[in-house]
Amino acid sequence: MLREKTVVLGITGSIAAYKAAELASYLTQAGAKVETVMTEAAQRFISPLTLQSLNHRSVACDMWTPPENFDITHVSLAQIADVVLIAPATANIIAKLAHGLADDLLSSVVLATQAPVIVAPAMNSIMYLNQATQENLALLKKRGYTIVEPEVGRLACNEQGQGRLAALDTIVSAIDRVTGCVEDMAGLKVVVTAGGTREAFDPVRFIGNRSSGKMGYALAESAMQRGAEVTLITTTELKALSGVQVRYVENAEQMLEEVKKATEDAAVLVMAAAVADYRPKKVAQSKIKKTKDTLLLELERTPDILSEIKGKLLRIGFAAETDDLVHNAKRKLSGKKLDLIVANDVSAQGSGFGADSNKVILITRDGKEIELPLMSKYEVSNKIWDWVINIK
Ligand code: CTP
Repeated sequence: MLREKTVVLGITGSIAAYKAAELASYLTQAGAKVETVMTEAAQRFISPLTLQSLNHRSVACDMWTPPENFDITHVSLAQIADVVLIAPATANIIAKLAHGLADDLLSSVVLATQAPVIVAPAMNSIMYLNQATQENLALLKKRGYTIVEPEVGRLACNEQGQGRLAALDTIVSAIDRVTGCVEDMAGLKVVVTAGGTREAFDPVRFIGNRSSGKMGYALAESAMQRGAEVTLITTTELKALSGVQVRYVENAEQMLEEVKKATEDAAVLVMAAAVADYRPKKVAQSKIKKTKDTLLLELERTPDILSEIKGKLLRIGFAAETDDLVHNAKRKLSGKKLDLIVANDVSAQGSGFGADSNKVILITRDGKEIELPLMSKYEVSNKIWDWVINIK
């Protein structure tokens, strides 16, 4: 599928630079045209000759070598790229990109390109988790860059932590996705819910929760990009998703009705929404006035959407917990007879409500636990869809 695609591979000065050689070789063998750009620091870890020999093309190392055909190197590379991939990406290049610097060839190429950009960080875990690096990455994500999160494991500095360059497969699947090469969910109809429900008790007030809807939107977007037919039932409007059927609802009852309709012929339901378990028993017709010192609201149970939707479809739930994560998630998995539950510690740093990232454990019906490192909600979504594709 990568045939005919031009991948501009940026290599920066991380010890993981040697892994870029394997990546370049894989991409070349898969039929991609790989144009390599190396920073000065990268050349201290690996020789341009290695990349040149693997890709059978020259490697661009600086702005000032006269170009062979009088194209301006950084502009021509930026223009021919179908995707720019920086692997490994150091904290330094991430900071430069976040601030729009263009003081070397690679940062200039990125600034001059309109192609999608993928950044695969690799560094010491403390540098990676440093607020500066995390905020720079968040900024890049907001601008639409794809971040391929580093893995947890033993690092070159002999420490254990998150910072190892992501596996070759993970990086290649990110390239496939952003270049639209993979439609592995084509023909699959999926329904995703997003956001927190709002249960009114008078015309202007409601009981709600902190769910932002970001996880549901990431699920819908990633499924759509992988070719699925997607219905998103949401309480929030986060961004326009062309190609996704969006239904807006407010409360649990309305969400249930829309989910029922949408799942009639669907293969998968993912309930990422935070559905209220209780709602006010009575809804006042007019705004309640503050006439007394206290106000008692009587609540009643809402319908449990996941439990009400029966049939052959795969049903995936989320368990947002602050304590006893796995135990509570497993209770919900069996109680609601789910195929998969995404256990989510909402009190963990960088995880949960409103965050762009999430740290989750996927727990399957047969009790298998797949613990994922802290990654973007988009990456978590793709892990969930990978699991779906695997068992479909
Ligand atoms: N859910 C649902 N219908 C509801 C409530 C929740 O379908 N009325 C779904 C959520 O979308 C989520 C999963 O069920 O996928 C969460 O299970 P639940 O036990 O309802 O979680 P909590 O509301 O967090 O429950 P508890 O307060 O018991 O922790």
